[in-house]
Amino acid sequence: MSQHTTAPDALPAPAGQPIAVLGAGTMGVGIATLITGHGLPVVLVDVDENRLGQAPTAVARGLRMARLMGKLPRDGESGTLTTTTLVDDVREATIVIEAVTEIPETKAKVIASVSEVIAPGTPLVSNTSGIPIDELAASAVRPEDMVGAHFMNPPYLIPAIEVVRGPRTAENALRRVTALLTRLGMNAIVVGDGPGFVINRVLQRSLNGAARLVQDGVADAESVDALFRGCLGHTTGPLATADLIGLDNVVDSLRVLYDRTGDAGYLPCELLLQKVAAGDFGRKTGRGFFEYGGVL
Ligand SMILES: NC(=O)c1ccc[n+]([C@@H]2O[C@H](COP(=O)([O-])OP(=O)(O)OC[C@H]3O[C@@H](n4cnc5c(N)ncnc54)[C@H](O)[C@@H]3O)[C@@H](O)[C@H]2O)c1
Repeated sequence: MSQHTTAPDALPAPAGQPIAVLGAGTMGVGIATLITGHGLPVVLVDVDENRLGQAPTAVARGLRMARLMGKLPRDGESGTLTTTTLVDDVREATIVIEAVTEIPETKAKVIASVSEVIAPGTPLVSNTSGIPIDELAASAVRPEDMVGAHFMNPPYLIPAIEVVRGPRTAENALRRVTALLTRLGMNAIVVGDGPGFVINRVLQRSLNGAARLVQDGVADAESVDALFRGCLGHTTGPLATADLIGLDNVVDSLRVLYDRTGDAGYLPCELLLQKVAAGDFGRKTGRGFFEYGGVL
């Protein structure tokens, strides 16, 4: 039986209750870096002990880089980072941020189990790329605590964030999440619910389209990206963006969008599927559309 009372409105002090991050992959580690870099404690949960073992080094590396670039405060202490495989260890969290694999069934299970242990009124945030927040909220004990927050990669370098208000999201939950994001130096832009929200409803289709151009031999990856950078002023081309996201995650996100819209523009193209089957996920494995010196 839970002994919890309603979570307090104030944000945690550096030595206080932690913010929980579920999933120690590309995004979970990046979000933990952002939060600890602002002096707040994090408890990081994953089912994969290897991922958890690598997380402290990856967070330390991210902190160093972000501070060198002036993207995180250089003064003051970092928040503590605790790692665990047990969802029970997040029961004291003031906010929970879910960043596990973009598989709807996996997220549903994680959301159901974590919402059993946290205090009523604790915002339960999903970093999903495209699953509607109200669909995820159906797995939560208290759907009104569910909010979407779509951090970009890497979260400590990109200051704007799409925040998603589901039809059942409580005003208090939304307010507490935007207060945390403001505390983290971010510009929260609140949007409505739906598959892919704003960014991925548009972006994922164009990543798929760019990959299909390479597949069909219209242009090679370098040329596609050079055109977007040189002609449209994008800082990164779509295929380098796909490599940064992770091609495995791009395929999962496209499937989420296709299953919920029936729009064939989201059907992952053959070249993307081949690269994922070959284990070429992009930056995180050292090869995707482009080759990378070091595995991130
Ligand atoms: N990669 C990006 O650029 C990006 C950007 C925005 C949002 N997202 C979203 O963030 C989420 C995470 O993406 P990622 O790129 O970090 O994926 P990832 O594959 O790098 O990491 C996912 C992590 O979740 C863990 N996990 C799986 N099941 C779990 C469970 N039951 N409990 C705890 N941990 C579990 C895995 O072990 C893995 O470490 C996805 O929803 C993705 O769509 C990704």
